[in-house]
Amino acid sequence: MEALQRNHSKAPAKPLLRALAGERLNRPPVWLMRQAGRYLPEYRAVRQRVGSFLDLCFTPKLAAEVTLQPVRRFGMDAAILFSDILVVPYALGQAVRFEEGEGPVLDPVRDGDAVERLSTANFHERLGPVYDAVVEVAAALPSDTALIGFAGAPWTVACYMLEGGSSRDFSAVKLWALRHEQEFARLLDLLVEATADYLIRQVEAGAEALQIFDSWAGALAEAEFERWCIAPLAAITCRVRARHPEIPIIAFPRGGGFGCELLVARAGIQGIALDPTVPLRWAAERLQQHSALQGNLDPALLAAGGAVMERQVHRILKAWSKGAFIFNLGHGVLPSTPPEHVASLVGLIKSWRE
Ligand code: CP3
Repeated sequence: MEALQRNHSKAPAKPLLRALAGERLNRPPVWLMRQAGRYLPEYRAVRQRVGSFLDLCFTPKLAAEVTLQPVRRFGMDAAILFSDILVVPYALGQAVRFEEGEGPVLDPVRDGDAVERLSTANFHERLGPVYDAVVEVAAALPSDTALIGFAGAPWTVACYMLEGGSSRDFSAVKLWALRHEQEFARLLDLLVEATADYLIRQVEAGAEALQIFDSWAGALAEAEFERWCIAPLAAITCRVRARHPEIPIIAFPRGGGFGCELLVARAGIQGIALDPTVPLRWAAERLQQHSALQGNLDPALLAAGGAVMERQVHRILKAWSKGAFIFNLGHGVLPSTPPEHVASLVGLIKSWRE
């Protein structure tokens, strides 16, 4: 509640929140997807102290510590809660583990019975440590740094739940969804409800903005993009904003391309995170009057650094700074990225003036 009162107070809003309210600022606020992670030596040091990646997500003191690391080191305008999109299937009762060097492994949900066995009975108890981490971060942040909570979008989370991990072609989830439309719709409904409740709790713990990651939106054809990406996102934003009308929501429909236009019209979002393939001018002309733009530097350019990075940073700044805009990457920081490149990127953005 305290967080909500803070938003309503007369203190000047944090730059990230001003951009999400549609304001054009002298220079865009900046944060990076996966800004906490293996490219940082201080992250690797904490990671070594815990057994598994999920233990890190569920130990509030350590999750808060790694959330704050990039804010301290680079002066980011936002912290994003350190967690993972797969804590939601875990909290619904699915077995989830992270194998070293292999990524996530889940016991796949591939029949109606398995969907029925998922349960919200212990959902918030299991996610309690995440809410505690939000409280810790909120108390420790500098006064002009915003705290972003997040969750995976139903389609992307369903991909992992049905594939049992990462996938090249999503054939398992797509075939199951197309052959068992009603069961798949039930799964998406369950994920909409659970994800909205999860995001609402994050707001009540102190998150000031939310981002919903639909990393595999680009795997969908037009009709499925509408019913499996846009419709569930719209249902989540509707539920969350019914409870907290002031909370800004960013969607990241990675690979969504031209579909982003329909998404900003229908999904009830205040920000759209764009991947590196989205043409800059098209986004400024077709999306920015409806939603703040966020993105879209290629993470490989950040890892490369130097003049190639700077050239593209200036193109993005020029194209998107005439409206509401948040500087970010088009996907997460690569583990091979030198931290000094992140420092020079943040320096470039912070010293930029139109
Ligand atoms: O952005 C941040 O700094 C916050 C933390 C965050 C993580 N995962 C930490 C993480 C966020 C926002 C995510 C989201 C996430 N998780 C997505 C959506 C964004 C995207 O990248 O498309 C997805 C698809 C996942 C699922 C996931 N988690 C995969 C496929 C992997 C393995 C790949 C990898 O990078 O290792 C993870 C593990 C994971 N999540 C790590 C981190 C820092 C690496 C684990 C480790 O430290 O060993």
